[in-house]
Parts: sequence; C-alpha cells; structure tokens
Amino acid sequence: MGIKVGLVGLGQFGSAFVSLFAGHPLVDKLVLCDTRSARVAEMLSGHGLDLGSGSLDELLGTDVDAVALFTQPWRHSRQVLACLAAGKHVYSAVPPVYRADGDGAVALDECDALVKEVERSGLVYMLGETTVYRAETVYCRERAAAGDFGEIVYGECEYWHDIDAPSCSLRDVAQTRWGESWDQHLSGGVPMHYPTHAMSSMVSIMGARVTKVSALGFACSGDDWYTGETVSGNRFGDQVAFVRMSNRATVRHMESRRIGHPGREGMRVIGTRGCFLDDVGGPKWTTVNGWERIDLGVVRTDLAAASVAHQGGHGGSHPYLVDEFVRSCYEQRTPAISVWDAVRFLAPGIVAHMSSLRDGEWLEVPDWGDPVP
Ligand SMILES: NC(=O)c1ccc[n+]([C@@H]2O[C@H](COP(=O)([O-])OP(=O)(O)OC[C@H]3O[C@@H](n4cnc5c(N)ncnc54)[C@H](O)[C@@H]3O)[C@@H](O)[C@H]2O)c1
Repeated sequence: MGIKVGLVGLGQFGSAFVSLFAGHPLVDKLVLCDTRSARVAEMLSGHGLDLGSGSLDELLGTDVDAVALFTQPWRHSRQVLACLAAGKHVYSAVPPVYRADGDGAVALDECDALVKEVERSGLVYMLGETTVYRAETVYCRERAAAGDFGEIVYGECEYWHDIDAPSCSLRDVAQTRWGESWDQHLSGGVPMHYPTHAMSSMVSIMGARVTKVSALGFACSGDDWYTGETVSGNRFGDQVAFVRMSNRATVRHMESRRIGHPGREGMRVIGTRGCFLDDVGGPKWTTVNGWERIDLGVVRTDLAAASVAHQGGHGGSHPYLVDEFVRSCYEQRTPAISVWDAVRFLAPGIVAHMSSLRDGEWLEVPDWGDPVP
C-alpha cells in the first residue's frame, strides 16, 4: 500500500506537479487543493482525477498522509507548521521561509521554529529545491564525492532573473501571487531572500555549510520597483555576497534582478585537481592537462520512477523531487533535502542582506546542525 497525498496550490508552479504525483507508483490517492474552486475543477478534469478540496484547513482534516505545498512564498512557514501539527508529512516549494517585510531577523526566527517543529514531530519535511536535482549539480556532487576536484578552493553560484525578462516578468508573478491584495508597496522584494536556487548547489556539492558572509548591494538609478518606499524598504536589485564555507572554500554568490541577461541558475566549482566550468559555451571539466565538454544529458540514470523521468521543468528536476519526497514518506526516513539542508540554503542569503545593509560587514551565519538520519 502506498501513501495518500494532498497537493495544495494549483498556480503556475504547482500545476506542473499534478501528473508527477498522480503517476507515481507509491501514491494511492491524490487530492488537489486550492482556494480557487474553478482551478481545482479545471485541474481535476484535465488529469482525470476526482478528489478536490477548497482549502488547506479542510485538507488537514482528511486522511491524507502527506501534503505538498505550492502556495505563495510568505505562506510556507505557517502552512508547514500547520501540516506538521496535524500529523502530516510535508513538502514545501522554495523558499522554506519568506517575509515580505523587514531585514530578515524574523525570518531567521521562523527557520528556528521550523527546525524545532520537524524535530519534535518526527515527520518528514522536504524542501523542493530544484537546483539539487539539476544535472550539473548531480554531476559535480558525484565528482566531489569521488575526490575528482581535489580540495575545493572556490565556487561561484548565481540566480539571474531580470524583473522584466520577456520569458517571465517578475512584476506579473508578484501581482498574480498577491492577487486582490496587490499593492505597489509590496514591490521590491529582497533578492537575497530568494537565495536557495544558487546557494543549494554549493552546500550540496561541497557537503559544507556557510559560516560567514559579507555582501554588497547595487541600487539601479531611478528604479521604479526597488524604490525603498515599500514594505521591505529594499533598494537593491542586485546583491553580491562573498562567503566562507566550513570546508575553507570561498564562494561568490550573486542574486540579480536587474541584469541584461536572459536568465540563469548556474555555478562553477574550482578545485585543486579539477574544475567544473559552465557558460554560454556549455559545461566543461578541466584539469591541468586541458578541458573536455560534458554531456549532462546522460548524468542522471537513478530515478526509480522511470516512467515519469522524462517529465518536468527546471533542468528536469521535478520528477526527482517528487520521487524522493514520496519515497521518504513511504520509508519514514529523512529526505535528501531535509529541513536542516533547507535552512543551510536559506540563512546565508538572509544574513547576506543584513550585511549589505551594513556596507559589507562580515556576519556569522546561524546553523541548525547536520541532517538527523
Ligand atoms: N524552481 C522553483 O523551485 C520554483 C519555481 C517557481 C515557483 N516556485 C515556488 O512555488 C510556489 C508557488 O508559485 P506560483 O507562481 O505557482 O504561485 P501562485 O500564486 O500562482 O499559486 C499559488 C496558489 O496557492 C493557492 N493557495 C494559497 N493558499 C492556499 C490555501 N490555504 N489553501 C489552498 N490553496 C491555497 C492560491 O490560490 C494559488 O492558486 C512559490 O512559493 C514559489 O516560490 C519555485
């Protein structure tokens, strides 16, 4: 017998996961949930499903074993705590915690509460960070484990997404997510408060955590989005952090929302024996003897749910995330992207923003320990 899952949030992102959960061999029952009833009806009929729910509260009163949250970022923290309190395993889209207001101090408190509640409950919490299952991250993680980098000296990671990118306008995303509550004062969110796509690559490849960070911000002249006259008070459309890792490596982490580039979630890893480089020319492996192109299309062959391996965006990561979450619930074990990993991906960005408000002051990054097996 498999598990019963509720999928909450049928917006742009959550909709892409319906067929993956529905088609997973260990999912016996799938309930689709959104406060927008028309959206629930549309998705049920589109996928040949028949179980719907009108709110998370209602869903938590049913017999589902696990809840997968694809709701707005600022809802994650409170909704995850509600799921755990109701005895449900929980998957959360990124970021694990998000505050529209303030410098991030409250968000760090919320990280603390999240970890403590997962520890208290003994339930599965998994963060759906797509970068962890991108082929380049999997490739580098395997080469790091094999010792091919030698000692990792330096890394670079970045999430570049201009707010007016033709492929995905962040102005439209923000207004869709806030819906009727949208107000111009909600514009100008902090780039470093969405750091997990970039930082997760470094943490997971190096198997190390960030110990301290120094960051600076760039305020674009005459910016109409990052005005400072908003609930976040933020003026920075671009932020760059210099990071010390617990394995002694240095990392440069860049979050850009004002950038003349079509968009990128990417990284480079520099080791004493080998390097992973990636740019418009494609991914390469280098040593002192030269370089070779890498075919990342053949990297991941380990997906147990092979029937769904061809589906999914964000570098083909979606089916891997779903498979890992479902299996960790079924096997009652700590998932590959646990709550302790989640806060290691997030806290460095929150502290980086605090540093950029203090002109690059070096600040210690809190840590909640290694994943508990
Ligand atoms: N690469 C990635 O990992 C990636 C990419 C895109 C989005 N995301 C994340 O996915 C999440 C969703 O993004 P989106 O663009 O689809 O947002 P969205 O606003 O389009 O969708 C959110 C949906 O959740 C529903 N919802 C909210 N609270 C609810 C409740 N209590 N009960 C039932 N339904 C509820 C809303 O009605 C809405 O339909 C965000 O947190 C975002 O950060 C991650």
